[in-house]
Amino acid sequence: MPSPARRFSTDRFLFGGDYNPEQWPEEVWHEDVALMRRAGVNAATVGVFSWAALEPAEGVYEFGWLDRVVEVLHAGGVGVVLATPTASPPPWFTRAHPDAMPVGPDGVRLSHGSRDTYAVSAPAYRDACREIVQRLAERYGSHPALLAWHVHNEYGTLDWGEHAAAAFRRWLQRRYGTLTELNRAWYTSFWSQRYGDWEDVLPPRATQYLANPAQVLDFKRFSSDEMLQALREQRDVIRATGSAAPVTTNFMLPTWNHLEQWSWSAELDLVSVDHYLDTVGPDGETHAAYGADLTRSFGQGDPWLLMEQSSTSSTVPGRRAHKSPDRVIRNSLSYLARGSQGALFFQWRAPAAGSEAWHGGIVPHTGAGSRSFRGFEQLGAVLTAIAEAAEPPAEGPLVEADVAVLWHAEGWWATDAPQLPSDLLDYSSTVRAAHRALWQAGYAVDFAAPGADLSRYRLVLVPSMFALDGQAVRRLEEHLAAGGHLAVWPFTGYADEDLHVVPGGYPGRLRHLLGLHVEELHPLAAGDEVLLESDGTGPLRGRVWSELVVPDGAEVLAAYAGGGLDGKAALTRHRVGAGVAHYVSTFLDEEPLRRWLTAVCEQSGARPVLGAPAPEGVEVVRRRGARADHLFVLNHSGVPVRVTGPGTNLLTSSPADAGLRVEPRGWAVLRTTERDGWSAEALEA
Ligand code: GLA
Repeated sequence: MPSPARRFSTDRFLFGGDYNPEQWPEEVWHEDVALMRRAGVNAATVGVFSWAALEPAEGVYEFGWLDRVVEVLHAGGVGVVLATPTASPPPWFTRAHPDAMPVGPDGVRLSHGSRDTYAVSAPAYRDACREIVQRLAERYGSHPALLAWHVHNEYGTLDWGEHAAAAFRRWLQRRYGTLTELNRAWYTSFWSQRYGDWEDVLPPRATQYLANPAQVLDFKRFSSDEMLQALREQRDVIRATGSAAPVTTNFMLPTWNHLEQWSWSAELDLVSVDHYLDTVGPDGETHAAYGADLTRSFGQGDPWLLMEQSSTSSTVPGRRAHKSPDRVIRNSLSYLARGSQGALFFQWRAPAAGSEAWHGGIVPHTGAGSRSFRGFEQLGAVLTAIAEAAEPPAEGPLVEADVAVLWHAEGWWATDAPQLPSDLLDYSSTVRAAHRALWQAGYAVDFAAPGADLSRYRLVLVPSMFALDGQAVRRLEEHLAAGGHLAVWPFTGYADEDLHVVPGGYPGRLRHLLGLHVEELHPLAAGDEVLLESDGTGPLRGRVWSELVVPDGAEVLAAYAGGGLDGKAALTRHRVGAGVAHYVSTFLDEEPLRRWLTAVCEQSGARPVLGAPAPEGVEVVRRRGARADHLFVLNHSGVPVRVTGPGTNLLTSSPADAGLRVEPRGWAVLRTTERDGWSAEALEA
């Protein structure tokens, strides 16, 4: 990653969010900036969907309003994260270039009237993007208020039309070279799909029955690469103007997934993300941590930026659920603890109308006299008080983790295919469950790409990864040879990168490491469960999956208890050189998963953040810093907690040596230079 990212906003955490002044009369802008100052807001993301306001007709530009917005913000001490408006071409563009509208797999071409409606491979769209970006970069690229470039917004519009078809063929020619190789990889001898001419090759459009899974996977790979190329073009236009501000684009995590984030992150100065909680229940805290750890990992452990989180409400099925001010603060601190350089929100001011009129804002419909606005003022004060924690260490990652989870978009894409052994296989829930278990047990976690260097980790988890390439397997072999531990879930390593199943028993690519082979798959019906022999503390219950495991050297730690697999191996361990490979042959429920993983962590020598598990519902994260580290203690529980150790709370200046009380749903941020000597305990309510 280029160096500007490493040094991004090191003297303070950014606070603010999407700002859409084009929706409001100019006098409101002045009120906005006055309120921003009151709340301590120091960053506004401007221009995200402003193309029609900036270029109301082809070649007619109106930058005057944006000039004034930038000046008003700058005069108020608010920095600008300037977006390129390319996520939403104006209606005149789509009428001039109807071929630049995306086409669905069913052949239906979409129209304007919403947003994100463009065919990313259409030359007219790409030319228009470069043109508007050039003008923006020339005009604002060296403005002192400019904090960063926010290219596009949440890339993710797929296209199955004629431009996509041509670009897909070019991509396939680069990947495979010859049609013979493509036919081999796609296994086209099946169902008479053999291709004799490149022109016959299409995106996976609507067809009579099941599509070819390899074609579908390649189309997803291609779509990610094609959008990445569009991003690179904008980035290069910006850089060519001499603008020194870091370039980012906001990923959307982790509810949908059209990008292969490892390759994208390598092209960005600064990785950023929009993260929306998937629940308003207590589990929302583990979700925030999951999104944050993923994003930091995409950026190789460097500082990153939370570009959006919801402000006053969260979208959950069927309603907009209220988000309490204390939760907003604790979530924000969780993102910062895990490496974000700021807490930005969607959005500054709740819109008066439009399809997101109810998505809330730092300034809600009820105005700045509200409880929620006071909550944001409190957040501003907290961020000011902990500003010193924004400075990253001179060397090494912001968060030190002994445990890594392998993560790749392709694991998700491959598991989305129909007609797998079970429709209940769910990549992202499986990974999330593993991460949640480690959160509960108090361990810091990184994610790692298959094939990446794993040498800094004691333990590597692979919570399902259907296809693994040779490099990914070699890295796991090296990890074990060096004395590391590995833990593997079902439906991992069955296939190579072309989705060809490795013969001879599952998981073909990992049999030698796990010391076993799987002879039969016994997927379970929804709601069914399997029991494993007790580990001494309680039942081990699994769902979704079971299988007939035949040990080839692995030690059996627990067998299935009852049912058709009664007495057969369920949980195993295999010594490989100096390392140990653990295997679980079902998807364990939350509590047993935590017990199993805690035991695996302990065996591997991984160390929890506090040296011992934190009390239930208490999140402790150590963010490394330049002169000291900072221990973020977030008490999501309903009882007070006492934290004791060699540090001082930045928010109260109270030392923690003799114990520091953290109220229910409260927080503390402690400056410390010591790794050891920390403990936390729950107090009586
Ligand atoms: C996204 C987008 C925003 C807005 C919010 C709604 O993440 O980037 O423009 O649509 O969600 O909550």
